[in-house]
Amino acid sequence: MSLQAVEKEIDRLIKELNEEDIIEIISKIPAGKRLRARLMLEIAPNIKETIKGAAIIEMIHAASLLHDDVIDNASMRRGVASINALYGNKSAIMVGDILYSKAFFELVGFKEEIAKIVSNAVVNLSIGEREDVRLSEEFNPNKDRYYKMIYQKTAALIEAASEFAAILANKDREIYKTYGRNLGIAFQMIDDILDIISDSKTLGKPALSDFKEGKTTLPYIYLYEALNKEDKKRLKSLHKKELNSSEQSWILEKFKEFNIINRCKNEALGLINEAIDLMQKAGEKGLESIAIKMVDRSF
Ligand code: FPP
Ligand code: MG
Repeated sequence: MSLQAVEKEIDRLIKELNEEDIIEIISKIPAGKRLRARLMLEIAPNIKETIKGAAIIEMIHAASLLHDDVIDNASMRRGVASINALYGNKSAIMVGDILYSKAFFELVGFKEEIAKIVSNAVVNLSIGEREDVRLSEEFNPNKDRYYKMIYQKTAALIEAASEFAAILANKDREIYKTYGRNLGIAFQMIDDILDIISDSKTLGKPALSDFKEGKTTLPYIYLYEALNKEDKKRLKSLHKKELNSSEQSWILEKFKEFNIINRCKNEALGLINEAIDLMQKAGEKGLESIAIKMVDRSF
């Protein structure tokens, strides 16, 4: 059983829509890493339902990104033009709705317990996205709100995908849930760190763009805690601003001075290591290696 089978299943479900122009738009969405499907295939291999389950989760994820790119006004996704950039916001929203609804239609064919886990994750996803937008309105110094938001926005669906697969495979679901949750939170933290340490070419968007968009990610929260009163004020004054190069350098120097990036990296690594430990104990080599690769590829 392979990722290819999941891709084929997604294609099959989309073709069932029987709408040529919609199928054409959906074909322009790049597949991405298919992290959620990979996890499900590892947790529940050789089970026929895994393929459809993974296709459903990936369709929900794709729908959420179509909406997110409209909300974030993003012109690129996975290195190519986003659907909103190609077809406009209205089409991106409606195609997202169609993808999500079709996924939901397929989901209710699974047992109620599974349908509830996945649909509840989508509730979390939507609340997390709204909280992300809300938190971006003002400088947010609250770490708990950041953690809750990234859990909801990113980790909830990965956690649900892992639990879904564990149920299909009749495995201890708590272990796989924790694994998925840790991976999801760490994944978003790493994404937020990369916005600071990568160059714009690697990112496909300007570096430090999160802060400009109002996102006070974990490194900024820790930096704020570490700064003296005057510098706290300065950092706040740069929030949501187009930064010139001396302002950018100031922020980067302060990150260095207080060793903030390493601190954040270690926090993400702590979550990944916990996930790796769990999988080692469960004898899940494939899942262990997915967690290791996530870190290796990023840093
Ligand atoms: C990306 O975050 C966004 C998400 C992981 C979730 C978005 C969720 C929604 C828009 C709710 C969707 C609801 C339904 C019903 C499908 P990001 O902007 O931090 O990451 P990025 O850099 O990949 O854009
Ligand atoms: Mg976005």
